Amino acid sequence: MYILLMGPPGAGKGTQAERLIETYGIPQISTGDMFRAAVKEQTPLGLEAKKYMDNGQLVPDAVTVGIVKERLAKDDCKKGFILDGFPRTTSQAVSLDAILQDLGIKLNGVVNIAVPDEELVRRTTGRQICRSCGATYHITFKPSKKAGVCDKCGGALYQRDDDKMETVKKRLSVYAAQTKPLIDYYKNSNLYIEINGAREMDAVFNDIVASLGKSK
Ligand code: AP5
Ligand code: MG
Ligand code: ZN
Repeated sequence: MYILLMGPPGAGKGTQAERLIETYGIPQISTGDMFRAAVKEQTPLGLEAKKYMDNGQLVPDAVTVGIVKERLAKDDCKKGFILDGFPRTTSQAVSLDAILQDLGIKLNGVVNIAVPDEELVRRTTGRQICRSCGATYHITFKPSKKAGVCDKCGGALYQRDDDKMETVKKRLSVYAAQTKPLIDYYKNSNLYIEINGAREMDAVFNDIVASLGKSK
């Protein structure tokens, strides 16, 4: 199962990917997570990416396409993957088409999780992430049992640097200008699936799995 998960910042891509991993037994490839890991390790890629991420802007296409190309060539991608947050520009989508063609892979579905802006602000500004295992929580919508502590591993929860209100607003405007046009790119193919993401997590998940089942 080769899935592309699209949607604005805070739509629930990571949340749904966490579940899809278990359902389909395939890896999640999140460019945002890959950049955050590089920032944490202070690699040259991380230092470069951080300049853009902290301002809510997109990392340049050449850098982003390079890391995705390398990642998709790995063995664990042979039976499928969930691409989360890539592509984000038309140029990235065109590059992805070429990469997939080279690998002889055809996507099963392009899932767009649609959520209104005011809900996206609530979701991002209230998000908490585990420093040890990366699990995602929300202070209101998905609180951990003990405040500030991960249910799964006991790690400390933190707020992403780019989840502050000012940066969230910038990310939403960057999304509208650079990523939203991609919907039309994929609508022209028969792969496009739009999901109403403004509902509770289980309902969104059930819809995604049902739609992918039909698209196979
Ligand atoms: P990235 O990490 O991909 O951020 P994003 O696209 O802005 O998306 P998020 O991770 O913020 O949201 P999500 O949809 O995963 O939501 P989540 O499930 O966590 O990218 C970060 C940065 O990296 C970019 O700004 C850019 O600089 C760079 N970058 C990454 N990819 C790039 C690319 N391809 N090209 C260039 N630059 C790139 O959920 C959010 C919150 O809501 C959580 O707290 C969750 O618990 C809660 N929640 C989820 N679902 C629900 C629900 N149904 N109901 C209530 N609450 C919910
Ligand atoms: Mg995410
Ligand atoms: Zn944890």
